[in-house]
Amino acid sequence: MSPFHLTRTLPEDATEAALRADVLHGLTRSPKTLPPKWFYDAHGSDLFEKITELPEYYPTRAEREILIARSGEIAAATGARTLVELGSGSSEKTRHLLDALTGLRTYVPVDVSESALTQAGHALVAERPGLDVHALIADFTARLTLPNTPGPRLVAFLGGTIGNLLPDERAAFLTSVRSLLAPGDALLLGTDLVKDPSVLVAAYDDAAGVTAEFNKNVLAVVNRELGADFDLDAFDHVALWDPGNEWIEMRLRARAAGTVKVPALGLAVDFAAGEELRTEVSAKFREDGVRHELADSGLELTHWWTDEEGRFALSLSVAR
Ligand code: SAH
Ligand code: AVI
Repeated sequence: MSPFHLTRTLPEDATEAALRADVLHGLTRSPKTLPPKWFYDAHGSDLFEKITELPEYYPTRAEREILIARSGEIAAATGARTLVELGSGSSEKTRHLLDALTGLRTYVPVDVSESALTQAGHALVAERPGLDVHALIADFTARLTLPNTPGPRLVAFLGGTIGNLLPDERAAFLTSVRSLLAPGDALLLGTDLVKDPSVLVAAYDDAAGVTAEFNKNVLAVVNRELGADFDLDAFDHVALWDPGNEWIEMRLRARAAGTVKVPALGLAVDFAAGEELRTEVSAKFREDGVRHELADSGLELTHWWTDEEGRFALSLSVAR
């Protein structure tokens, strides 16, 4: 069997310190917020996989359609020998790229979710003898140190996860990705596109309630890790379209007034009845906006592909 390495670039105590800092900052400001990266413990990662199969959640299917149609072109354009994937999750769609990249030697999945990385990594090495899988537990918004592997490198950031960053975080993120690219390397970026708000809202407020459970999972993570006493049933899942920012916002709305204790922080947090806590933005893009954001970070868009229905785009860009 080919090698599987798992490297933790985030020591567990640093992860806990980051959670404490985010919870302290997010629950003591107005409006209250929590960053979406804390959704993804083992249960949250499983719930996300369930979301990708929901009839309302089209992004995964649309992006898979593009990967099936275009992986050959991506392989020809990049000739990648190393594929780095940020926020790789289950690496499910990535298999189309792995099949097409015939000169590929090393796959470097990067994720905060250890459970997703180990499951995906073990499955991949079993399926693909000869592929070196070097998984990194890391926060892709922090400065990444990648293993020294053969170029050219293709850095993939799929799923539309870039939309979960706020605009200033996106700019910093793209600039840091740019700094990882040597001449001949490329970035493959998945972006969900602006469309009819009713389609968007349904994708984030599914009839089976899986997205609601995913949203509330962040409270379960804070309860488990910081000893908080959030009552998950005391909050309602909210998904709304913000037309000014062109993003979906997920929130948790307190059904009644109450106080939540977070013992690890010595904190008592008051919620008013109806008060909303923002847990995620999911920005939707247009081609011009993507091209400009890439250019502002020193990247030049070279290819733009969408699915047949024009719901989702994959773009390829190189360092300028
Ligand atoms: N790329 C996959 C998974 C998308 S879900 C797909 O397209 O289906 C988003 C993934 O990003 C999750 O696996 C989550 O654990 C990871 N993630 C979220 N924020 C992260 C961060 N700041 N650093 C690293 N990984 C992150
Ligand atoms: C991972 N990310 C691209 C998903 C999205 O669509 O913004 C996370 C998600 N949130 C709710 N449903 C899915």
